[in-house]
Amino acid sequence: MKLLPSLSLFIFLVISSASSASILDNFSQCLSDNTEILIPFSKAFITPNNSTFLPTLQSTAQNLRYLVPSVPKPDFIFTPLLDSHVQAAVICSKQLGIHLRVRSGGHDYEALSYVSQIETPFIIVDLAKLRSVQIDIEDNSAWVQAGASIGEVYYRIAEKSKTHGYPAGLCTSLGVGGHITGGAYGTMMRKYGLGADNVIDARIVDASGRIHDRASMGEDLFWAIRGGGGASFGVILWWKIKLVPVPINCDSFYSCQDP
Ligand SMILES: Cc1cc2nc3c(=O)[nH]c(=O)nc-3n(C[C@H](O)[C@H](O)[C@H](O)COP(=O)(O)OP(=O)(O)OC[C@H]3O[C@@H](n4cnc5c(N)ncnc54)[C@H](O)[C@@H]3O)c2cc1C
Ligand SMILES: *[C@@H]1O[C@H](CO)[C@@H](O)[C@H](O)[C@H]1NC(C)=O
Ligand SMILES: *[C@@H]1O[C@H](CO)[C@@H](O)[C@H](O)[C@H]1NC(C)=O
Ligand SMILES: *[C@@H]1O[C@H](CO)[C@@H](O)[C@H](O)[C@H]1NC(C)=O
Repeated sequence: MKLLPSLSLFIFLVISSASSASILDNFSQCLSDNTEILIPFSKAFITPNNSTFLPTLQSTAQNLRYLVPSVPKPDFIFTPLLDSHVQAAVICSKQLGIHLRVRSGGHDYEALSYVSQIETPFIIVDLAKLRSVQIDIEDNSAWVQAGASIGEVYYRIAEKSKTHGYPAGLCTSLGVGGHITGGAYGTMMRKYGLGADNVIDARIVDASGRIHDRASMGEDLFWAIRGGGGASFGVILWWKIKLVPVPINCDSFYSCQDP
């Protein structure tokens, strides 16, 4: 963004004359200015002085190398309760010059969803509370929120139908947010391709905090988010996935005899 010199000066003066409010104060003030539904502080923020901070930060880590004390820690963890909170978090991080890391399942092996080695300050936007899975068996599709695990997706599908599935990864604690953006290969890959090949729509927050679906983001961006890697293009809120036919699994739980 190009700012006029006088505008830059104005912003500089405003910033330099302000008080010593903390990053958290500034961020939560900005959030309340940018969301219609108020965010209850104790439900949405976890600060380092809270005993749940480290356990929450480390809860999903797969690479223990990133848990040692010398690894930089976020200023706080923000856990949005609504899509609009994610929009506000993007707007406010940009406005306040805070680096934002997005976490869905937290399985990133380079810890990109919970550690920033270079950019400071940084915060985590943790999508753990955005994990709805809405199945439409008649339509062979589902809307899945980014914070859901892939295991939850499989489970919810199986609750509705024994002959529908979704071809994605093996490890059930993977978050669909990061998993599908990176492709999502699994046991049904040879028949149906990747998880990303079976995405038919998405909702994403762009760098300006606007939400787009497939139609409004355009086919180029829709192509890029299906394999281009997490956090490269925006924050995925929802995937609309296509369900595929699978044979009934005749184990001890289901009778495979004709009714
Ligand atoms: C034990 C293990 C087993 C695995 N098994 C498989 C497998 O069977 N098949 C397979 O394909 N892959 C597998 N993977 C790789 C896995 O798919 C990737 O690590 C994936 O990125 C994890 O997604 P996540 O949401 O859990 O991770 P996160 O760490 O939350 O996110 C990964 C990256 O995506 C970004 N991101 C997270 N959420 C969003 C979002 N909503 N919008 C935009 N960006 C986001 C993060 O910032 C980070 O850069 C495995 C990994 C592990 C550790
Ligand atoms: C909070 O914002 C004010 C200006 O609005 C600024 O002076 C202050 O430095 C900010 N605090 C931090 C820690 O960035
Ligand atoms: C932790 O810090 C936050 C923000 O500074 C504050 O609101 C909260 O009261 C503190 N909690 C404890 C237990 O000190
Ligand atoms: C600590 O964080 C939890 C949320 O994880 C919250 O419910 C609790 O109120 C917080 N405690 C304090 C003392 O701030």
